[in-house]
Amino acid sequence: MSKVQVKMTVNGAEVEELVEPRTLLIHFLREQLNLTGPHIGCETSHCGACSIDIDGASVKSCTMFTVQANGAEITTIEGMTDADGSLGVIQESFMEAHGLQCGFCTPGMITRTHRLLQENPNPSEAEIRNGIAGNLCRCTGYQNIVKAIQLAASRLNGQREAAE
Ligand code: FES
Ligand code: FES
Repeated sequence: MSKVQVKMTVNGAEVEELVEPRTLLIHFLREQLNLTGPHIGCETSHCGACSIDIDGASVKSCTMFTVQANGAEITTIEGMTDADGSLGVIQESFMEAHGLQCGFCTPGMITRTHRLLQENPNPSEAEIRNGIAGNLCRCTGYQNIVKAIQLAASRLNGQREAAE
């Protein structure tokens, strides 16, 4: 099959690659760019393990062809760290509030949390639960994930206030 050139920004870096038109974005990220943080759970847009951020929206990357992301700005879990490579606020909060067990859902959960808190910096518990409704976790029962998101929200809001 003939390949198509795509160009996009991934975690702040310009990327230019040749892909088959049928290549799903999750496969491109994991197999061609070696970004194995986004996971493959269902490949049918149910579990959210493959969630990433594209042009300011949460997207399940198993639902898109790579060619559809041509020109896009993409952030994966690998781009959620601080500039020095240390864990970002949301990652720290998940760790401290025990918002994970096996960790399979965690990259998708954290990238989804990133966008959720951009859209709503002070979500209620119900808004958090609704906001992560597209991300399934088989281990935690969600209690500590909600606590982790609440912790991240209060820390990010504190940082914002301190910067004002
Ligand atoms: S792998 Fe994409 S939603 Fe499950
Ligand atoms: S921590 Fe295991 S699936 Fe969520």
